Amino acid sequence: MKNKHLINPMDFTIEELDEIFELAHQIISNPQEYSHVCEGKILATLFYEPSTRTRFSFEAAMMRLGGKILGFSEPNSSSAAKGETLADTIKMVSIYSDIIAMRHPKEGAAKVASMYSSVPVINAGDGGHQHPTQTLTDLLTIKSLKGRLDNHVIGICGDLRYGRTVQSLITAMSRYENIKFLLISPKELGVPQYIREEVLNKNNIEFREVEKIEDVIEELDILYMTRIQKERFFNEDEYMRLKDSYILDTEKMKLAKEDMIIMHPLPRVNEIDVEVDKDERAAYFKQAEFGMYVRMALMAKLLGVA
Ligand code: NCD
Repeated sequence: MKNKHLINPMDFTIEELDEIFELAHQIISNPQEYSHVCEGKILATLFYEPSTRTRFSFEAAMMRLGGKILGFSEPNSSSAAKGETLADTIKMVSIYSDIIAMRHPKEGAAKVASMYSSVPVINAGDGGHQHPTQTLTDLLTIKSLKGRLDNHVIGICGDLRYGRTVQSLITAMSRYENIKFLLISPKELGVPQYIREEVLNKNNIEFREVEKIEDVIEELDILYMTRIQKERFFNEDEYMRLKDSYILDTEKMKLAKEDMIIMHPLPRVNEIDVEVDKDERAAYFKQAEFGMYVRMALMAKLLGVA
């Protein structure tokens, strides 16, 4: 895996993913042993779009491995504001750093960056397209809390059209046996056609599209909630009309299986009532914690230090 880029969740084989998850578990059980493996290494975090969790978890991950960080979280504070091209920025940054994590509002930007970089590029979200390290986080969470990655009924609820975490998760899960998806969204926010055709139909994956959580919640092993992606709407009225489509509350949770887990990439707006946080099935904060460990494992592998 050394020196590979991670742009799309399918860039790694199932075996490579297992290696990353195995290392993440080793780091979780013995963090001290890994606290110096990235000494002398520099992570550059280039965030052209807002982020809290993803950027902090990358930076915390590198610091916990003993490395250092540089970067920006505000494109206006970088030379992009002067009109520098992404290609030139990446050529420079890959001289200064050993590995790059980049988030960008344009679909395909991470792929372009990887073509100009002399160091590994990790896609930390490209527009409404893909978010592969969130998917590593999600897979590690499912594997750790449910014991396996195959044989699950997964409900994905909210903005399936613009949600990049959704597209990456469905793509990644399509490689595991006996996965069934229940896709819960308003009609306008259903999964993009390429996910329906190229991923679900092509791989013969069972799925159903419904509009209400209550109609399917009792069937689910995993309920993956998502935020309506305000920043990707072209029309404010449309957002206002759809923004409160789903609110998971304690009443709805009464219908769910006792061992169902609730996931959410976060940030949450109002799609999960805070009362649900007390429910043992709420896994979203634990999921954010797994996110840091899986990024530690990923960077250690790409840098070839563990
Ligand atoms: C997600 C993202 O940026 O796509 N957040 C994250 O990385 N944890 C989900 C979102 O913003 O809704």
